[in-house]
Amino acid sequence: MGLNIAVLANLKKNAPHYAGMPSDAWDDLDSDITINAISSALAAAGHRTTFLEGNLTLATELPKLKPDLCFNICEGHWGDSREAHIPSILEMLRIPYTGSGVLTLALTLDKPMTKRVLAFHGLPTPAFQVFELADEPLDPDLRFPLFVKPSREGTGMGVSGESIVRDETELRDRLAGHLARYRQPILVERFIRGREITLGCVGNLTTPVAWRVPFDEAADRITHGLRFLPPLEIDFDAYPASEGGVYTNRMKTEWAHDFHYACPAPLGTGLLAQLQWLTAAVFRVTGCNDVARVDFRLDADDGNKPYILEVNPLPGLYPGLSDLVLEAEGDGMTYNDLINMIVDTTCARCGIAC
Ligand SMILES: Nc1ncnc2c1ncn2[C@@H]1O[C@H](COP(=O)(O)OP(=O)(O)OP(=O)(O)O)[C@@H](O)[C@H]1O
Ligand SMILES: [Mg+2]
Repeated sequence: MGLNIAVLANLKKNAPHYAGMPSDAWDDLDSDITINAISSALAAAGHRTTFLEGNLTLATELPKLKPDLCFNICEGHWGDSREAHIPSILEMLRIPYTGSGVLTLALTLDKPMTKRVLAFHGLPTPAFQVFELADEPLDPDLRFPLFVKPSREGTGMGVSGESIVRDETELRDRLAGHLARYRQPILVERFIRGREITLGCVGNLTTPVAWRVPFDEAADRITHGLRFLPPLEIDFDAYPASEGGVYTNRMKTEWAHDFHYACPAPLGTGLLAQLQWLTAAVFRVTGCNDVARVDFRLDADDGNKPYILEVNPLPGLYPGLSDLVLEAEGDGMTYNDLINMIVDTTCARCGIAC
């Protein structure tokens, strides 16, 4: 008979405006197209849906609506834990929701903090330094070319061909520009030259060990409970050289309707298994629930060694365009299948009959 589901998101059209706002300020927020697609996918499976903007009114609206479940894709507006705000309200109201919880969403929004967790577990992520001032001395272990990006943004905000810096002058220029524009610490990483693969999964690990990779993991590389979607590779050859062979903000916004990619990406079975295990390991150590997408670069200068760039526990769900949606299609799934698979996964995790 279906569930009563509240679809929660922050729409770009409802986002606040403020003085000095960068033009890409709300590029990670959602559109009516995505909300309508999610709602109709849920309706097709027999659920009743209500869309609510993710803000403080939820504290009064949700107790009236009494949903069985919230489909949460709120990115939030302010602060260094903005993706965790709505889940915090939902936990205070004791309403179950799709996807990861407060701690994971706060952690993974912050790329340097996430990288520290990955490094602690021996998972490969590019060497890095965080800058709060444009003139802090560069760690002598970091060699050019380097890659400069904001610590806490998504949708390629602040990422362009100019993010690759080849000397001190370019580094200082990009740091000053990003610090002024994004008003947050700036992440500088070793630039990984090579192919780029993004790998999504839906499900939950069934083994009891959360938040760590067990010592005997090598013996049995645990991925049970996760359904991996086929890996997607960005086809950089199809883009102008100005993009620098990176997945830029322009490619994710202005040019999103003409995205060039291969899915499944042509990878040998060994490399695919390695990327799947790394995805499961990232999912585990960052404490993800239900769905995530992990972005990798394969180091062309080191035998295609995979490096984890970041984990996205709130992957974009724009129909026909977002990476995770294209990966589901590459697996023969429809948009409706993907959305309902996420809901079914949450129901199983939370013990909700659906
Ligand atoms: N260290 C690096 N070396 C090479 N390329 C990089 C590096 N870091 C980021 N990039 C490039 O910049 C892109 C955006 O980086 P990243 O995935 O960290 O940002 P994002 O804006 O959070 O992405 P998303 O849209 O997936 O949320 C990557 O997809 C990749 O092409
Ligand atoms: Mg990314």
